[in-house]
Amino acid sequence: MTRSLAKDTDQGLSSDPKYLLPRYFYDDRGSMIFQKIMEMPEYYLTRCEMEILTGQKLEITRTFTEDSSPFDLIELGSGDGVKTKVLLKHLVKENARFHFFPVDISQKVNDDLIRQLKTEIPGLYAEALTGDYFRMMEDLNKVSGNRKVILFLGSNVGNFSDDEVSLFYRKLRKIMRAGDMILTGFDLKKDPAVIMKAYNDPHGYTRDFNLNLLVRLNRELGAGFDPGLFEQYTEYDPVSGDVKSFLISLKDQTVGIASLGKTFHFRKWEPVFTERSRKFDPGTIHKLAGTNGFRVRKNFTDAREYFMDSLWIKE
Ligand code: AVI
Repeated sequence: MTRSLAKDTDQGLSSDPKYLLPRYFYDDRGSMIFQKIMEMPEYYLTRCEMEILTGQKLEITRTFTEDSSPFDLIELGSGDGVKTKVLLKHLVKENARFHFFPVDISQKVNDDLIRQLKTEIPGLYAEALTGDYFRMMEDLNKVSGNRKVILFLGSNVGNFSDDEVSLFYRKLRKIMRAGDMILTGFDLKKDPAVIMKAYNDPHGYTRDFNLNLLVRLNRELGAGFDPGLFEQYTEYDPVSGDVKSFLISLKDQTVGIASLGKTFHFRKWEPVFTERSRKFDPGTIHKLAGTNGFRVRKNFTDAREYFMDSLWIKE
């Protein structure tokens, strides 16, 4: 079944417990709210990864260029590329022989990034690929026959279900050759209070981010949600490392979705699961590499050990 907002919504709201997929957070407004989340002091993830990439760019890029043959640097879910530019500038300065391929679902985001790169990093060869990176993986081999270094930053892997995590790494493994590398960003387990503040923020951005899903369903599927009749609820389980977010129905209500020609009933206090943001421990990351056919080459962490960029090599 090909995925679409309509089909996924139908499936999610017909399930027990109900769910909506986090991939649909990112319409224009959702992306704007996510930008605000990343800028708030409580959302430590972005700054921790920036600290790693800035402070350890020498070591990180040295592992990319130890093999002196040209390589393709492919970034999955590149977005505005703010963090990646740190590595790109350093690689260009060092005259590394590489081409940069950012992959993002949004054409506009890609166009903006390419425009910026042209002025900010002259001498860089960059070509954007637009689409869902999960579906586009097979195409990545077609860009060139060069060896590959893949970037998957920002703890996006934490939003996957366990099945999606294995599917993701197995698909990637298929298009990689022995010696190719992947650098993945993992948010680490830490003081639960720190984690909770990042996802239950006092500014209400995470709340807006979740409620925006309903606004999107109203606009794109002709749904009749009143976002005021739902509230965001987030919990953290320090054993599994899962932050789970929900929209809770504040009353008994029935909501129609015109383009599905259906209505859905929500009981008072019924949860709709919206997102998993998993936190990892280093042992789990190590195991994950092994079970998916990779060897950990090196781990890079920030000073507080809140976040880890883990570099794996395909054996
Ligand atoms: C994109 N992703 C890594 C974010 C996260 O931390 O799980 C999305 C997010 N959800 C709530 N706040 C941020």
